Amino acid sequence: MKHLTRLTLLTLTFCLSLSTTRADEGMWLPSLVAEGRINDMRAKGLRLTAEDLYAVNQASLKDAIVRFGSGCTGELISDEGLLITNHHCGYGQIQQHSSVEHDYLTHGFAAMNRSEELPNPGLVVSFLVEMRDVTDAVLKGVKPGMDEAQRTKIIDRNKAKAIQAATKGNHYKATVEALYYGNQYFLFVYEVFEDVRLVFAPPSAVGKFGGDTDNWMWPRHTGDFSIFRVYAGPDNKPAPYSPENVPYVPKKSFTISLKGIDEGDFTFVYGFPGRTYQYLHSAAVRYTQQLSDPHKVKLRTLRLDIMNRAMAADAAVRIQYAAKNASVSNAWKKWQGEMRGLERLGTAAKKEAFEERFEAWAADKPEYAGVTERLAALYDSLEPYAFARDYHSEAVMAIELLKFAGNFANARDLKPETIASLQKAADGFFKDYVPAIDRETTTALLQEYARYVPARFRPQGVVIDSFATAVFDRSLFTDSVQLRALLATADTAALRQQINSDAAVEAYRAFLSAYQNTIEPTYAALNRQLDTEYRTYMRGMMEMLDGTKEFYPDANSTLRIAYGKVDGYRPMDAVYYEPVSTLEGVMQKDNPEIYDYDVPTRLREIYETKDYGPWAVNGTVPVAFIATNHTTGGNSGSPVLNADGELIGVNFDRCWEGTMSDLEYDPTVCRNIALDIRYALFLIDRVGGAGYMLDEMKFSK
Ligand code: ARG
Ligand code: GLU
Repeated sequence: MKHLTRLTLLTLTFCLSLSTTRADEGMWLPSLVAEGRINDMRAKGLRLTAEDLYAVNQASLKDAIVRFGSGCTGELISDEGLLITNHHCGYGQIQQHSSVEHDYLTHGFAAMNRSEELPNPGLVVSFLVEMRDVTDAVLKGVKPGMDEAQRTKIIDRNKAKAIQAATKGNHYKATVEALYYGNQYFLFVYEVFEDVRLVFAPPSAVGKFGGDTDNWMWPRHTGDFSIFRVYAGPDNKPAPYSPENVPYVPKKSFTISLKGIDEGDFTFVYGFPGRTYQYLHSAAVRYTQQLSDPHKVKLRTLRLDIMNRAMAADAAVRIQYAAKNASVSNAWKKWQGEMRGLERLGTAAKKEAFEERFEAWAADKPEYAGVTERLAALYDSLEPYAFARDYHSEAVMAIELLKFAGNFANARDLKPETIASLQKAADGFFKDYVPAIDRETTTALLQEYARYVPARFRPQGVVIDSFATAVFDRSLFTDSVQLRALLATADTAALRQQINSDAAVEAYRAFLSAYQNTIEPTYAALNRQLDTEYRTYMRGMMEMLDGTKEFYPDANSTLRIAYGKVDGYRPMDAVYYEPVSTLEGVMQKDNPEIYDYDVPTRLREIYETKDYGPWAVNGTVPVAFIATNHTTGGNSGSPVLNADGELIGVNFDRCWEGTMSDLEYDPTVCRNIALDIRYALFLIDRVGGAGYMLDEMKFSK
């Protein structure tokens, strides 16, 4: 015992002295944790080995984790292919299956047997088979000082070769991804399953409880989960949807912990974070904080104000614009947290100070000297282009009519199949489209656009002041009946002519070509130069801080491990947030008058009788918790695990005060938000009446 403690202490001091990476910061590559990271994880409480986390020749935890679709994570919770992810990750699928008669969005969904599980064409889940450093192979033939275009050509060829070798004679898919701005390359091999069926979804009043009001916030009471099942062919290999397919038997599935969660407990998150920017130059931080975020927030505020007003006035509109509203407000809210966080941390000034130190160190190293100044100069040139580009995507392309008309402008042919698919797109568009909202939004957005985007980036011949009138009054794309009649035209040439001369198509093309001619080429060229300089800068930082800082590569939608502990925080003066929320908080927020807080009757009834069955903990039911794991978008649905690698939660958000962690992680306020897995089980069992589902799960008590 004594001996053990001393050892742990020794490891601890060793790690502390070696690492200036602040506590709990980092998204680590699973295949590399064995090279030292594992010691810090174990010192902080992990009771597993590196091979338990990641191994190629034996089953390990990574085999129970999938990339869910393209933007989320999910994990296997039974040996019969059962998978859990977030409600907001399965939202599109749940919505697809919903109709007025079967409104699964509102009432939830529970398959009562396998035959009731619902297939989802287009949805895939990807298991990582293997990841490997292929830097030498990818950089083979690359010489220092080589022309950038030639270099890229060689690298692309080498990448293709590595992918080919990895997928030859098997059914895997592979990618090669750059890490550390192209100083390192890794090969990722995936097994991709394409028959994934919906098994369970709670009502939105649970799965999206608190809506956009609570989004990005703690304390949180959202039951943000949904359940799917992965199916395979009879040989347990991926197969397209078929009624003959069978539940996939994974190499590994998670045991679910019922042991509970305490402040201070070790936790880790194992999933697919999307993008982070930890090594950015100060100029880019300043741009984000002072220009990009504030302008994007302002433009979205305009849109949301108009949308919200229309939604409040009309229940049908509230439903029509629900998903649009959610996606517009999601980044809108995150950016505000990010701006404030960067300001509070003084990230840009800290980076500037570091850049000075770097240049002092690099003064006698021609390879590195001046790189931060070159980056600054490039950002100077980039700024007007980046800014105009922000307005193109956040103002121009936020015009629903223009985006919709773009489908027609870009249609390569007008064959019957194409017309059928355009008609289908039109049906989807008009189902949730209110021209008056779009028109008002357009006027508001274009006013800002004209005010802030210099004329040289704007299309000639588009008169901003009369734009809404000119386009909305003349275009056929605002009206489903007119458009349907048009698409029924048998004469393809006449149809093409009509489309081409439509006011919305013309406007779409005018804005697009202004973008493509005046913004995009320079923007792309400057970014290629930035890439080159960042590659040098990154290598220099790693050399300069070698032995004093442990680096982790920016997130790039590849599998990572983040670890930390269950921990509360102080969001502002005089306030401390406890790390665990319960059903009491759900009921405190309950308000049938407010859509986002209207607790389902069944849950209200259970609360009244306190009939929680085995799910009662201290007279209530745990709902969510926060921890210091470093996560980002894409980590939604990721397993949150305890020291034994058992599932304790499902990640679904971050706390607002810490959203700048994509650029700088601050251990005092950066927290990930997870659903307590016991709340999901309680909801399945007591509210959803689908307790049979628990029979195939494994529990640890
Ligand atoms: N903030 C979370 C994420 O970034 C949840 C988003 C979905 N929920 C919402 N209310 N819009 O994806
Ligand atoms: N909700 C986010 C997602 O969908 C996770 C929140 C975050 O950005 O950390 O991935």
